[in-house]
This record gives sequence, structure tokens and C-alpha cells, in this order.
Amino acid sequence: MPFSFFHLLCYITIIFAEVDAVNEGASKSKSKLRLFVFGDSYVDTGNWRKSIGSSWKEPYGITFPGKPSGRFSDGRVLTDYIASYLGIRTPIAYKWRKEVKRSNLEYGMNFAYGGTGVLDTLANQPNMTTQIDFFQRLVEQKVYGKQDLDNSVGLISVAGNDYATYLARNTHDLQKLGDFTKKIMDQLEINIDRIRGLGVKRIAVTLIEPMGCIPLQAASSSYSNCTQALNLGSKFHNQMLNQSLQNLNAKDNSTAFITLDLYDAFFSALNKFTTHAPAGSLGLKPCCEGKEMGKYYCGSVDESGAKLYTICENPNLSFFWDTLHPSQNGWHSIFSSLRSSLHKLTT
Ligand SMILES: *[C@@H]1O[C@H](CO)[C@@H](O)[C@H](O)[C@H]1NC(C)=O
Ligand SMILES: *[C@@H]1O[C@H](CO)[C@@H](O)[C@H](O)[C@H]1NC(C)=O
Ligand SMILES: *[C@@H]1O[C@H](CO)[C@@H](O)[C@H](O)[C@H]1NC(C)=O
Ligand SMILES: *[C@@H]1O[C@H](CO)[C@@H](O)[C@H](O)[C@H]1NC(C)=O
Ligand SMILES: *[C@@H]1O[C@H](CO)[C@@H](O)[C@H](O)[C@H]1NC(C)=O
Repeated sequence: MPFSFFHLLCYITIIFAEVDAVNEGASKSKSKLRLFVFGDSYVDTGNWRKSIGSSWKEPYGITFPGKPSGRFSDGRVLTDYIASYLGIRTPIAYKWRKEVKRSNLEYGMNFAYGGTGVLDTLANQPNMTTQIDFFQRLVEQKVYGKQDLDNSVGLISVAGNDYATYLARNTHDLQKLGDFTKKIMDQLEINIDRIRGLGVKRIAVTLIEPMGCIPLQAASSSYSNCTQALNLGSKFHNQMLNQSLQNLNAKDNSTAFITLDLYDAFFSALNKFTTHAPAGSLGLKPCCEGKEMGKYYCGSVDESGAKLYTICENPNLSFFWDTLHPSQNGWHSIFSSLRSSLHKLTT
């Protein structure tokens, strides 16, 4: 199956979102935590250039903040919920660091770019290695000092752009996908080690979601089935990642590295949405879709500005916002499932 899920994991305002989820995590703690974020569109809060990011186009952001904000969703994304949980504002996107007052850097920084991966992807944006280079430079410039780093948490999202790129270049070559996973892991371990080496105390890494359930993949079955081969790929990826993090913890004699299981969280969240879904659609149908699959996307317009996409009545009732990304309410539900793991970030 052609796999152009590149459009996927992509898309940016200077929103200091005071997320309305309850601050139940680190709130009353002594010193404010800083959150440093790396990865792709599941956590990007505004790093794409406004002129090219679909995240800066209508109808992205309609639920929150009411206009496009550089997030690849109708509203908040995982980063917003985690920051809120940690009792801090959503950290500023790297791209905006010079446009804002210094005090706006005190919640950490978000280096994630939608569409990117551990390795280079079809999106011509900074890969994770480069994102860490950006972070390293700020640490070297003492924008963040030892005390800041001592009270910091890292968040890494790897949602599948590496695989989308691999499959776009090696059509149908699912057999060798396992070798590719190993390649991703080797680099990811280096990346995680580097972030820790720069002084970040705790690092949460997402296990990959069931890639076969992404609407782009499920469309061929009218959203009635997930693509099992891709879900198996996700499981393999997650086993390896789990092992890598255990090894890193053992090497460090620590519990610094934790996993956020998006695989299970997607399924439990999907279950909640299925009740509102059209019969048999498993809740996989996105709220916003291009009028012609593969040709137009959520946000596409013609020369006169007329919409080439359809949008559902209430995005709150859809788990998926577009063919690649959960809606705000979808993320809210995923976040609820991750709460027990998040606890480990602050204890
Ligand atoms: C990341 O991007 C940089 C700059 O383009 C490149 O030199 C490097 O090889 C890339 N790293 C990986 C692991 O793909
Ligand atoms: C969905 O999967 C079920 C069980 O694996 C199968 O019987 C059914 O034919 C599939 N439906 C479509 C539309 O692919
Ligand atoms: C990861 O490891 C933990 C404990 O070691 C285990 O409970 C969990 O099922 C593993 N997850 C995956 C995806 O392998
Ligand atoms: C690992 O940490 C535990 C608890 O902090 C400590 O008792 C133990 O000696 C440490 N082991 C090594 C090899 O450093
Ligand atoms: C969707 O949910 C948000 C947050 O809970 C709420 O503010 C908004 O009014 C809801 N929108 C609709 C159309 O129900």
C-alpha cells in the first residue's frame, strides 16, 4: 500500500497555553520544572514556518485556541497535557525563542518538528539529531544552567515518520522492516543518551502508536479495520524500544528513562470514541479530510480559497482530527491512559 503518511506527522502561534486539564502532578513542588521536547507532530507546538506548515492553516486550531496555532490538531496536543500535568505552561517552541521575553523560556523549550524522525524523512525539517544540536547550543550558551537542568524533564516522540519514509522508498518491503527498526533504535539510543548527558534528569519516550490504525491506513477498509502488518511493526518497534530503555536505565543504574505507551493508550482511547462513531467504523474516521483521498488534505483550498476538505460537526466526538493526528479530545483521552506512567516523571 502506498504510504504517504508523511503529511502525517507534521505542522505552529506563540500560545502559552494554560491547559485546563488539572494540574495534579508537580504543582506545589519547590522548584519549577522545565520541559524539553524532541520529535514530531505529536508534540510539535509551533516550529514549522507559518508560510508552509498546514498546522498554521485553517481549520487547524479551531477547538483551541480558536485559530491555527502551529499544532497538528484542532487543539491541544500531547505536550500541552504533559506540561499541564507537570504544573507548568507549555514550553515555548524553539522557533519563537527570540521573539519573546526571556521569562517565557522558563518552562523549557520545544524542539520538535512535525514530519521529522530519528533519521532523515521526506519532510525537509531538522531531524532529532539536529534538534538536540539546537538544545546543546542553548546549554553551552547557558540559556539553561545546571539548576534549570537539575529540575528538567525530557519528552521524546517518535510516531512513525521514519517508517513512512522507509515505506515510500521501499514499496511493499515489509520483510526488512525489522532491520530498519534496529537502525532507528541504534540512533535513538544515542539521542536519548545525549539528552541525558546534557543534564536532563528524567526522560519520557513514547512507544509508537498502532501505525496500522492511522486513518490513512484504515481508509482502504472504510475505517473498519486497522492494517495488521503495520501494527505488528509497531509492536516490534515497541519491544525493542522497551529493551533499549531498560538497558539505558541499567547502564545508568537509574529510573531516568520511562516509556509512554501510546500503543495501548490509542486503543483504550479509541474504544471510548467508538460509541459515537458511525456503525462499523471503529472510530477511525477522521473529523477533517480532503475531498479526494491522496489528492487533497485537511486544510487544502483551491486558487479562489474554496475548501477542498470536509469537516465534521463536532471535532470533540472524533478520536482522529485528520488522517494522521488525534484530535484534542483524542489527546485528552490518550493522556488519561498515560497518567500512571507520568507519575514516574516527578517522583
Ligand atoms: C540529521 O541531519 C543532519 C543535518 O542535515 C545530517 O548531517 C545528519 O546526518 C542527520 N542525522 C541522521 C541520523 O539522519
Ligand atoms: C476486516 O478484518 C476482518 C477480520 O480480520 C475481516 O474478516 C474483514 O474482511 C476485514 N474487512 C475489510 C473491509 O477489510
Ligand atoms: C515493556 O516492559 C514492561 C516491563 O518490563 C512490560 O510490562 C511491558 O509489557 C513491555 N512493553 C512492551 C511493548 O514490550
Ligand atoms: C545502584 O543504585 C542503588 C540504589 O540507589 C545502590 O544501592 C547501588 O549500589 C547502585 N549500584 C551501582 C552499581 O552503582
Ligand atoms: C469541545 O470541547 C472543548 C473542551 O472541552 C469545549 O471547550 C468546546 O466547547 C467543545 N466544542 C463543542 C462543539 O462541543
